Amino acid sequence: MLGCLYVFVISVVIFSSVSSEAQMVPAVYVFGDSLVDVGNNNYLTLSIAKANHRHYGVDFPNQKPTGRFSNGKNAADFIAEKLGLPTSPPYLSLVSKANKNSNTSSFMDGVSFASAGAEIFDGTDEHYRQSIPLTKQVDYYTLVHEQMTREVGTPALQKHLSRSIFAVVIGSNDIFGYSGSSDLRKKNTPQQYVDSMAFSLKVQLQRLYDYGARKFEITGVGALGCCPTFRVKNNTECVTEVNYWSVKYNQGLQSMLKEWQSENGGIIYSYFDTYTVINDLIQNPASYGFADVKEACCGLGELNAKAPCVPVSKLCPNRQDHIFWDQFHPTEAASRSFVERIFDGSSSYTSPINMRQLVAA
Ligand SMILES: *[C@@H]1O[C@H](CO)[C@@H](O)[C@H](O)[C@H]1NC(C)=O
Ligand SMILES: *[C@@H]1O[C@H](CO)[C@@H](O)[C@H](O)[C@H]1NC(C)=O
Repeated sequence: MLGCLYVFVISVVIFSSVSSEAQMVPAVYVFGDSLVDVGNNNYLTLSIAKANHRHYGVDFPNQKPTGRFSNGKNAADFIAEKLGLPTSPPYLSLVSKANKNSNTSSFMDGVSFASAGAEIFDGTDEHYRQSIPLTKQVDYYTLVHEQMTREVGTPALQKHLSRSIFAVVIGSNDIFGYSGSSDLRKKNTPQQYVDSMAFSLKVQLQRLYDYGARKFEITGVGALGCCPTFRVKNNTECVTEVNYWSVKYNQGLQSMLKEWQSENGGIIYSYFDTYTVINDLIQNPASYGFADVKEACCGLGELNAKAPCVPVSKLCPNRQDHIFWDQFHPTEAASRSFVERIFDGSSSYTSPINMRQLVAA
């Protein structure tokens, strides 16, 4: 009797100590913008939104730029690590290989459709060439779905997809677009604009659901007015209006998600409040291991925020203690810190459940 219990306890301990490194879900499918782009834009010939030059990737072996808008890894890499998986490869890299040797079975191992500059809205034609907007990312996913159906059949695919994570990190570029366009601001009040963002996102989420997705990790936008590019416009302080729009969008997003879940059976989601996390980090950097919350690591001029990260830009030596890598993007260290909270964060950061609970659900 006692022996039996002993064996039971041992096996539980072994199982739980291994499980953090073992693969926790079949695959991750990633949608979004530069916060999670792992190289799709390198394949867009006309795009100027590329991180394929120095100093991007400066903290990778051989300082290799990969298309990530970071000094090293980004949130997509850390999410994959947490789940015990390799980072889902860029869709455009897979299809360009598939054209050569017609092997696309790795779609089953996860795919990233994320593209720097992508918005929830489709944008203008000119913009369209620069990035893959969300609608187009979901179009690509439906092609991937067709291919996987041919490979494994509908029942096996549905089982696979219903256990996989669909990560959606988008919205910042729509807000930057609103901030940068007096025309958009004339035509829409902030409330109308963010409501329309949430509505358009819902349409794309529904398409993912209709094509088998069930477990969603969805992030709100950060305190966008605190990006270095805005701080230099306000004596290094955050721009209030842009933060206000960010909060408004996150509120709209949360009510949309609740409504959307109530309209469809079987949706499980985890919402991550990027705004609150960044705000806490900015208020109290030392307790998170950071020292500089204002300056970009790579750039030129005041706060290194007057120019993008290009080969002639200045590069800070202490990338571990900065939260911003360039005018808009977090450092690898900050992304790691965010994903810790995405995965295990309390209900003030992630609701109604965190990613660990999403995986287990
Ligand atoms: C196709 O890819 C899968 C996994 O990525 C691999 O196991 C298989 O051997 C490949 N097949 C060919 C013909 O290259
Ligand atoms: C500039 O920063 C100050 C201090 O945080 C804030 O009160 C003010 O509203 C900001 N100005 C703008 C234009 O955002």
